[in-house]
Amino acid sequence: TTDAVIFDLDGVLTDTAELHFIAWQAIANKLNITFDKEDNEKLKGVDRENSLKYILAKGNLAVGTAKFEQLLKEKNDQYLTLINEVNPSHLFDGVLSCFAALKKSNVKIGLASASKNASLVISKLGIEHLFDFIGDAASVANSKPAPDIFLSVAHGLNVLPKNCIGVEDAVAGVRAIKSANMFAVGIGDNQILTQADLVFPSMSEFDFNQVETAFLLSAT
Ligand code: G6P
Ligand code: MG
Repeated sequence: TTDAVIFDLDGVLTDTAELHFIAWQAIANKLNITFDKEDNEKLKGVDRENSLKYILAKGNLAVGTAKFEQLLKEKNDQYLTLINEVNPSHLFDGVLSCFAALKKSNVKIGLASASKNASLVISKLGIEHLFDFIGDAASVANSKPAPDIFLSVAHGLNVLPKNCIGVEDAVAGVRAIKSANMFAVGIGDNQILTQADLVFPSMSEFDFNQVETAFLLSAT
């Protein structure tokens, strides 16, 4: 049985993956490091500190602690400016009907985002009240691709990981779901999200009946 569906936020429920990209690109530009969509693909689902480490490594650049902290702050300040504009119209098509279908089937809804800004974005989208549990990225030891955030949300929902379905747009996120021993639904390109059990091009194609059928088949 499916007890819960646990969603990633950025790139699954709304297009903030693009806003993270814009903010990181500004930092990379300033440091004279090239940073394109392909690099960004590797950073999806990756936490703030590790994202900056990736960019610095790409540019063969070493910075001291103070500079590192300053760059993190700059990126986040720009990101906060960008998400200030987020409102309920930015919710991806298909999300509300998907949540309605889950509620109708008595399936719990969780959020497992690596973003420390997740609660803010969720409240700007106006969907806080639809979640049974919202995970806290700041309180888990290991970030995606480690399973920690998905496991902590399953725990918070009081369900077993093996009865959960995770939904992710990122390679690191799909790996986190699989490491948590959950069924993984990818949102995006199936050539990129190769480890997912099932992939939809976007949330508007997410079909809970199809997901559940595939999930139950995979469990037998
Ligand atoms: C999500 C995004 C990443 C982002 C991370 C941390 O996983 O996909 O691109 O780096 O959250 O976000 P934060 O808002 O804490 O910097
Ligand atoms: Mg994501």
